[in-house]
Amino acid sequence: MKRAVCPGSFDPITYGHLDIIERASARFDQVVVAVLENRTKASLFTVEERMTMIKETTSKFPNVIVDSWHGLLVDYCKTNSVQAIVKGLRAVTDFDYELQMAQVNLQSGIETMFMATAPAHSFLSSSLVKELAHYGGDVSSMVPPTVNAALKARVAGK
Ligand code: PNS
Repeated sequence: MKRAVCPGSFDPITYGHLDIIERASARFDQVVVAVLENRTKASLFTVEERMTMIKETTSKFPNVIVDSWHGLLVDYCKTNSVQAIVKGLRAVTDFDYELQMAQVNLQSGIETMFMATAPAHSFLSSSLVKELAHYGGDVSSMVPPTVNAALKARVAGK
């Protein structure tokens, strides 16, 4: 079985992530969406909250499962027989960082496959969504309705 992982902080999941997950699910037998820690980012939602949102929004893809991991991504891949990491590339600004991580992970024998983000999502990021939501901006075109509701509740202090 060819199993891939779509890793990320997913704080929260956006339509950009979902596009990559859907396209990966069409090319692998199983796709694990794994919530990992990014030590450079402070999170708005707990890992459990993020996993719940991912489960709700990926339930229509039968070969997609959701997991979390505290540690190195390559160790997750080895422990769970994952053959490939799939990541979306939005623009050249993503490239340096993503290439560096892909090359580090390749040293452990784990391949990374990049998918070009669909142009409609090229500007989209969880950070942008959180910034807009914080100031009452409309993010309904950027995240699924359940995520939009969770964002509204969180910025309202709930
Ligand atoms: O959505 P993000 O924040 O861009 O995802 C980055 C993430 C979580 C995939 C990355 O930070 C990661 O792989 N974290 C786990 C620790 C690790 O393996 N780091 C890379 C090698 S130093």
